[in-house]
Amino acid sequence: GLSRIGLAGLAVMGQNLALNIAEKGFPISVYNRSASKVDETVERAKEEGNLPVRGFHDPCEFVKSIQKPRCIIILVKAGAPVDQTIELLSKYLEKGDCIIDGGNEWYENTERRAETVKAKGLLYLGMGVSGGEEGARHGPSMMPGGTLEAYKYIEEVVTKVAAQVNDGPCVTYVGPGGAGNFVKMVHNGIEYGDMELIAEAYDVLKSVGGLTNKELHETFYEWNKGELESFLVEITADIFSVPDDKGEGELVDKVLDKTGMKGTGKWTVQQAAELSIAAPTIATSLDLRYLSGLKEEREEASKVFKSLGVSEILTEVKVDKQELIDNVRKALYASKICSYAQGMNLIRAKSIEKGWNLNLGELARIWKGGCIIRAKFLDRIKQAYDRNPKLASLLIDPEFAKEMVERQGAWRKVVSLAIEVGVSTPGMSTSLAYFDTYRRARLPANLVQAQRDYFGSHTYERVDMKDSFHTEWYKIAKKLLGDRAAT
Ligand code: 6PG
Repeated sequence: GLSRIGLAGLAVMGQNLALNIAEKGFPISVYNRSASKVDETVERAKEEGNLPVRGFHDPCEFVKSIQKPRCIIILVKAGAPVDQTIELLSKYLEKGDCIIDGGNEWYENTERRAETVKAKGLLYLGMGVSGGEEGARHGPSMMPGGTLEAYKYIEEVVTKVAAQVNDGPCVTYVGPGGAGNFVKMVHNGIEYGDMELIAEAYDVLKSVGGLTNKELHETFYEWNKGELESFLVEITADIFSVPDDKGEGELVDKVLDKTGMKGTGKWTVQQAAELSIAAPTIATSLDLRYLSGLKEEREEASKVFKSLGVSEILTEVKVDKQELIDNVRKALYASKICSYAQGMNLIRAKSIEKGWNLNLGELARIWKGGCIIRAKFLDRIKQAYDRNPKLASLLIDPEFAKEMVERQGAWRKVVSLAIEVGVSTPGMSTSLAYFDTYRRARLPANLVQAQRDYFGSHTYERVDMKDSFHTEWYKIAKKLLGDRAAT
């Protein structure tokens, strides 16, 4: 018989997703440009329980082996390889068939491709898939966007293949156009933020609190039983326990402190700027990847300042370990709320710009399982948006606001302590600044407006009257101040 679905591109993600689909009872045809990957996948399907996977070396036979309307998921590197794969497959596809790009693609590429294939009568989806290798194999979080009709073709498949949580499968029809890719992109931006915040917690505990890797393991292991319960905290606990297989101690201490990246976090920050959405925690996490990359420069700088008598840790401070651990936990949690608030606001701004009508609560729900940012507290985010879909910011949801207030004392202590000893906590500090800015009805932006009007006649508004105003600041100052006025 014919296969229910097809998948092209059998690198790590593709192979695992294909096996997952087959395991859920959907016969699948698979294809890859280099034939060895096809054979490898078929071999794995046999080994992992005679799963219904059929491999093809010929793209035409591959396409013809799928039931109509044919749905083919492609999982190749974002960019040109996606275009090439579409071109290859669409030679054999027929009107009504559907292509689903499961990669980390730029949303505008998806919108462009959807238009191109539409001319041939093909449907198109851009589907974010999160969860790495494990997720792909046993249940990822999936973020499909594009033609609703195309989603309907694959709904029964993806709802079985996605991670399952208490309120359903971690997949939903996200929205039209490139909405699925956009949401996955922001997921990755939030992922960058979470990772940076966790790294800062580690740094404070290690560099200020003097925790050993064993204690760090214990700490994260305990944290994962409470409000911070999440995949990233869980794997962090594991990391501290892995010994170095090539020397003494734990492997984490031997890993080079230079972070790589593939680009989705950068796109998130670019989009935040485009849409005038403040996303400082996410932007900071991106900056820290850049700064981490300057390993050699940092080593030089460290020498320069040491020669001036400034050591990397400015002062040894006596801290109560348990108190520090509790404070850092609270600082991490409060900072995380700020970061998610930024990500959600970015999604909403894009949704408004594009008329996508995205449902933020539903997005938080499909992130509860399967994906890299999966966490217990996403259920609370879902509930916050269920309570009030128009919520301006997570920070002012009654429950989150209360939590922020309960943690702010500890948060300020951690940031102050870090500043005092010269250990940077940019993500936690900028999150705190975001919070402190957002909760103030009046900011010093009045002065910025006055300056703009002074030197550029940019005009300003007043707090007490409507209309826009311009003042001859210089003339008045000159008259009043004489020589004291600016020259
Ligand atoms: C996921 C991940 C995955 C990948 C990203 C981020 O959701 O499963 O986000 O897509 O890790 O590409 O990677 P970089 O850190 O390399 O940008």
